[in-house]
Amino acid sequence: MKPKILFNEVVTRDGFQMEPEFVPTDHKVALINALSQCGYAKIEVTSFTSAKAIPMLRDAEEVMGRIERVPGVEYTVLVPNLRGAERAMESRPDEFNLVMSTSETHNLANLRMPREHSFSALREVIERYGAQVPINVSLSACFGCPMEGDVPQAEVMQWAQRFADLGVRGLTICDTTGMAHPQQVAQMCDVLRSRFPALQLTLHFHNTRGMGLANVLAAAQSGIDRFDGSLGGLGGCPYAPGASGNISSEDAIHMLDAMGYDTGMDLGRLLPIARDLPDIVGHAVPGQVAKSGRITDLHPAPPSVAELKKAFS
Ligand code: COA
Ligand code: ZN
Repeated sequence: MKPKILFNEVVTRDGFQMEPEFVPTDHKVALINALSQCGYAKIEVTSFTSAKAIPMLRDAEEVMGRIERVPGVEYTVLVPNLRGAERAMESRPDEFNLVMSTSETHNLANLRMPREHSFSALREVIERYGAQVPINVSLSACFGCPMEGDVPQAEVMQWAQRFADLGVRGLTICDTTGMAHPQQVAQMCDVLRSRFPALQLTLHFHNTRGMGLANVLAAAQSGIDRFDGSLGGLGGCPYAPGASGNISSEDAIHMLDAMGYDTGMDLGRLLPIARDLPDIVGHAVPGQVAKSGRITDLHPAPPSVAELKKAFS
């Protein structure tokens, strides 16, 4: 049997939060509706952060209210604090994705508070809403911080353990600025899987230094079966210096499909959506397979080849 891999699409959250121009609400809704038909396990629709901090996602309520939900797809939302949780709850999400950083400096830059304050705030969200909605926690900068450098694995495990002790359903281990390399990833994934066998474990990579797909492969080969990806490879944290795009969903899915993994994704539907993305955001996007086509999309040989075949037969 083919090993199964589940994808969470984050383009309308991690992708659009970083865009210089506001993506109109109609486009966000249409994009999520189209993505809902492609086989994703989850779609991270938006975030309920302060509109001052992330103006690009200030239409969170409206987007959540207008999307057509497809059974079998989980619609998750990013929540940074209790105020965000109260707002998000009104939109009936299938999951809260809470976020904090494992790096003190990145947490101060992104969430404007020390990690212990974030933890207390998120614990309050879990205590208040954990019985009503499944909780995932995304831990940022787990493979290194662009301001502090090394983030020791023990530090990551400590935060992961504290959230596991609060009964969360899942953890997403994020390489926020593309500092991870495959050997580090394999090692981290082995430890995570042995320490948290009952949790949904998701890996979230950015392709900042070209190591994104290599890291996906290292994690998949270590038995990780959930990945975040962003259509076209858009994305990044506005409060992490040098941040750039996530791994491109369609490139990662294409690679894993070719290798015999069962992603459950319909690339035939997804690629045309990826090809429309530059028009939505108004610039080229990094994803490669949407430009080159799949390895199974063959091109006609030039006429000279037929002549040469005849000549050499
Ligand atoms: N939704 C809407 N408004 C919110 C809010 C939320 N979740 N959280 C705070 N606010 C508002 C407050 O009401 C307050 O508004 P006011 O100035 O009109 O009174 C203002 O934001 C500041 O509130 P405060 O509690 O002092 O928060 P802060 O300024 O310390 O910011 C965060 C904390 C977490 C809200 C903010 O830093 C944030 O949203 N960061 C973005 C994180 C993010 O999504 N990063 C990218 C993904 S990793
Ligand atoms: Zn990210």
